[in-house]
Amino acid sequence: MATLIAVNVGLPKDVAWRGGTTRTGVWKQRVTGPRMVRRLNVDGDGQGDLTGHGGEQRAVLVYQIDSYRYWQRHLRRDDFVPGQFGENFTVDGLSDDEVCIGDRYRIGSAVFEVTQPRVTCYRVGLRMGEPQMAALLVSHGRPGFYLRVLDEGLVEAGDEIVKLSSGPEEMTVAEMDALLYRPGRSRPQLERALRIPALSPGWRTSLQALLDSEIRAPGAATGNVGLTAAAGGPPPAWPGFRRLRVTRIGAESADIFSLSLASTDGSPLPPGLAGQFLTLRLRPEAGGAPLIRSYSLSGRPGAAEYRISVKQEPRGAASTHLHRHVEVGDLLEVAAPRGTFVLANGDGPVVLLSAGVGATPVLAMLHALADARSAREVWWLHGARDGDNHPFAEEVRALLARLPGGRSHISFSSPRSVDRPGIDYTAVGRLSAQQLHDLDLPRDANAYVCGPAAFMQDMTAALEARGLASARIHTETFGAVSAITPGVVPTPVRPPHLPDRPPGEAPGPTVSFARSGLSLPWHPGYGTLLELAEACDVPSRWSCRTGVCHTCETTVLSGVVEYSPEPIDAPAEGNALVCCSRPSTDLVLDM
Ligand SMILES: Cc1cc2nc3c(=O)[nH]c(=O)nc-3n(C[C@H](O)[C@H](O)[C@H](O)COP(=O)(O)OP(=O)(O)OC[C@H]3O[C@@H](n4cnc5c(N)ncnc54)[C@H](O)[C@@H]3O)c2cc1C
Ligand code: FES
Repeated sequence: MATLIAVNVGLPKDVAWRGGTTRTGVWKQRVTGPRMVRRLNVDGDGQGDLTGHGGEQRAVLVYQIDSYRYWQRHLRRDDFVPGQFGENFTVDGLSDDEVCIGDRYRIGSAVFEVTQPRVTCYRVGLRMGEPQMAALLVSHGRPGFYLRVLDEGLVEAGDEIVKLSSGPEEMTVAEMDALLYRPGRSRPQLERALRIPALSPGWRTSLQALLDSEIRAPGAATGNVGLTAAAGGPPPAWPGFRRLRVTRIGAESADIFSLSLASTDGSPLPPGLAGQFLTLRLRPEAGGAPLIRSYSLSGRPGAAEYRISVKQEPRGAASTHLHRHVEVGDLLEVAAPRGTFVLANGDGPVVLLSAGVGATPVLAMLHALADARSAREVWWLHGARDGDNHPFAEEVRALLARLPGGRSHISFSSPRSVDRPGIDYTAVGRLSAQQLHDLDLPRDANAYVCGPAAFMQDMTAALEARGLASARIHTETFGAVSAITPGVVPTPVRPPHLPDRPPGEAPGPTVSFARSGLSLPWHPGYGTLLELAEACDVPSRWSCRTGVCHTCETTVLSGVVEYSPEPIDAPAEGNALVCCSRPSTDLVLDM
């Protein structure tokens, strides 16, 4: 007979961590007497970060006393207290390899359903004083699980746990956890998991992504597309940087110019996907530090040569060098096309929405659609200052003319007297939420948005207000991506900088953060690449910090990393998990 041994609750509190503050509800205290369990929480309980924890599907976290004993032995500890693993219910029985997703239980006067295994998050490591705990819970098959509250009611330590029914498919918590986080999953297992109605929507989305990728290209995907959008694409066409020859330079507008790049032996270049970018390593001064900058492919995907289009930034180091000093015939060091901002296959409508030089990746998408003579409804929406600053106008007109469902809307914020309304532009003013609203865009469209940060924010909000699901709105940022730092109490953000206190002498390989324009020598004292990025205020994304969740998965533009601990499931080819890796060679990361 399974028994509820302890009921533990705790409200979020601020905890000092790594020189900052984290808000977390992982510290739980045992309570005595009957406790009401409601749809969202046990009375007196709360979560610090509702994106990762809590909510209807994760109302109650359960952990087993047998796992307490296991970890006491494994970690050689004897100081565990109830709630040690952040759980609300400490139970005797209900092991992870016996309990199934969808099982229903009565405890006291409340009824529960098992929805998913525990979320892998650094905070359990914080609570335990064992930073690798999130990875250990997964690799040892002892994650614990969440309950949804079907009938609210009172529970109390000592209550018997009565099984009311078994989940369909009889897939255990341990099996489900392994299916998402560990390598070696199979299509039938994924299909089986997706047939369980009680499985939480978050896990369902992840497993569906894994199944879709398996159906698209059986056995081909590298990395874990269930955990990160950074996986799933084809591996880079070549490692590191190779030399390409500049074959053409031409103006596209007052301040945007294009460069065409070809192989040195005349062979066609490997095709990039529509929306991907190249990374250039420029050496303006012989022997000086290189400049590493990325540029979206703006030409026809599949063409023998690549084309990039660069905005000449006032005082911009790379764009000025490219503009003033690079000539036809020069060789440039170029990393292969990469990026996940790519045109998805499908029949539905497409909205290509850009401002200024942000037109480049969506122009490649327009090329791809025109090449395929696509019958899709295609909306080209672009904002520019005036006709002088409107790149690719003729090219776009010609491409749209090849698309039966092509439509265009061009906003000029300040047209010149020679700019012709109805021909050169459609509306006066900046592309705004109101303009988007008036266009009556299809709600089932996939939208691809690129431009200045504020523009992308406004357009994303306007598209959502129009009724587009956020999963259908894709954005490309021409700079550092926004950080994911769950639970960390925000502090004023500094621009990326060299570390305030480098940890010591004996520098190792050079680490370059391409999007942040920063290069510096590695030193083992930094710990991990993630910790180095944090020391430099390079925006970073993470959750478990120990190689399980893939939130930190980052494109490696060149170089090799080594891991400790080894990730549970490998990242996609050409990517690295920066939370548990260090450079073994000079390294360029897309951060
Ligand atoms: C995925 C991706 C795709 C991209 N695609 C494109 C693309 O297709 N086309 C494109 O043009 N760019 C693109 N970019 C941006 C590009 O990588 C560079 O960031 C851009 O060219 C600016 O680099 P820079 O060296 O010229 O400017 P930086 O020297 O890096 O300067 C950045 C900004 O700071 C300003 N600045 C520099 N020094 C000073 C100073 N002393 N005082 C005041 N301001 C200063 C510059 O004017 C500039 O606006 C992309 C970026 C990414 C990440
Ligand atoms: S933060 Fe989870 S794998 Fe790196």
